[in-house]
Amino acid sequence: MSCLLKKRKNYWFVFLFHLILIFRFSFFTDAILDPVDFLALQSIRKSLDDLPGSNYFASWDFTSEPCSFAGVYCDGGKVVALNLGDSRAGSPGITGQIDPMIGKLSGLAELTIVPGRVNGSLPRTLFQLKNLRFLAISRNLISGEIPETLGQLRGLQTLDLSFNQITGSIPWSIGTVPTLSNVILSHNSLSGSVPPFVSQSLTRLDLKNNNLSGLLSPVSLPPSLQYLSLSSNRLAGPVDRLLSRLNRLNFLDLSVNQFSGCIPSNIFTFPITSLQLQRNQFSGPVQPVDEVTITSVDLSFNRLFGQISPKLSTVQNLYLNNNRFTGPVPSNFVERLSAGSIQTLYLQHNFLTGIQINPTVEIPLSSSLCLQYNCMVPPVDAPCPVNAGTQKTRPSTQCIEWEG
Ligand SMILES: *[C@@H]1O[C@H](CO)[C@@H](O)[C@H](O)[C@H]1NC(C)=O
Ligand SMILES: *[C@@H]1O[C@H](CO)[C@@H](O)[C@H](O)[C@H]1NC(C)=O
Repeated sequence: MSCLLKKRKNYWFVFLFHLILIFRFSFFTDAILDPVDFLALQSIRKSLDDLPGSNYFASWDFTSEPCSFAGVYCDGGKVVALNLGDSRAGSPGITGQIDPMIGKLSGLAELTIVPGRVNGSLPRTLFQLKNLRFLAISRNLISGEIPETLGQLRGLQTLDLSFNQITGSIPWSIGTVPTLSNVILSHNSLSGSVPPFVSQSLTRLDLKNNNLSGLLSPVSLPPSLQYLSLSSNRLAGPVDRLLSRLNRLNFLDLSVNQFSGCIPSNIFTFPITSLQLQRNQFSGPVQPVDEVTITSVDLSFNRLFGQISPKLSTVQNLYLNNNRFTGPVPSNFVERLSAGSIQTLYLQHNFLTGIQINPTVEIPLSSSLCLQYNCMVPPVDAPCPVNAGTQKTRPSTQCIEWEG
């Protein structure tokens, strides 16, 4: 009996609430929230919770208008953006799962979840949201695979699922989405190969720290790219033809893979500030066309050979160590070192035969020069990184073959 009474009271309350809503919103602002969206929000709320120290859901009181909840944005009675969790720095975020009812928010264009402990897989219904343009759920515990139906989101611009536990391969269909501009899937456990991307507006592709393998086709990435990181995967094969087309790059990190072949000369003319190609199997000489204006160039731990180009002496931090470079170090490196315009010059573990340093020349304390384990006795006693070992000079038996 009391149960029934309570229920009646509830109905009265909801009725009253709707009357108030109609009165308050129908005349002054846009239409009240679509009941389908209302129910979907209720389900989403039920499957998520604040982590201790977060009180994001405090404003989610379904007796008031959901379009005024924290992180809920409506337009014409539909939820168009959902920013779940308190985005202020230091908030511990939220936990739970993403309810499949999210697929009922048919007007949703933007979904973000702040870093937290949301786990489980991405509901398949998410990929039915035809209006979705911005999807960012990074630094949570999302697992499972990204479905091939991702490619149905024909207006998707940003996809950020970085720092989760996603497995499987990157669906090939993602590459067919024509509007993509940012794809950030770094720090997951994705395997398989990198799909080709058709979007001519793709500016950022970050796939670092996964388990991706295979080759990249020379036309698999558009020249619109400005930021490319494929670091720490198992990718292989030559990339010279691919890279030489990407002349708008300002950040390039292909480190810790098995890329091979030569490094194209024109890469040094790109507007890059940091070039990281270390720990691959790149070979051939390195021959920039002009003086290099990139701040930091790391080509260490490859199979590069030939003489060191004097055009590299304009780089502030240059890592050429653990390669097969031969011949003398060009004199303009010494000039720039003593002028303090080179901060780091790592040349250890090559087959270099000399460097002309006047013993009275002072190398500023702020500059690091390492020459250890080459085919010469280092003329200055400069500090080297620990992994350069303690042997000052390469055994002469290894140097003979490089003479003449
Ligand atoms: C999500 O986390 C909860 C709480 O730690 C756990 O009980 C549940 O099994 C997890 N679910 C998945 C799919 O990982
Ligand atoms: C990486 O992928 C290969 C298959 O391509 C698999 O055998 C291996 O276990 C994966 N490694 C990790 C750490 O996931």
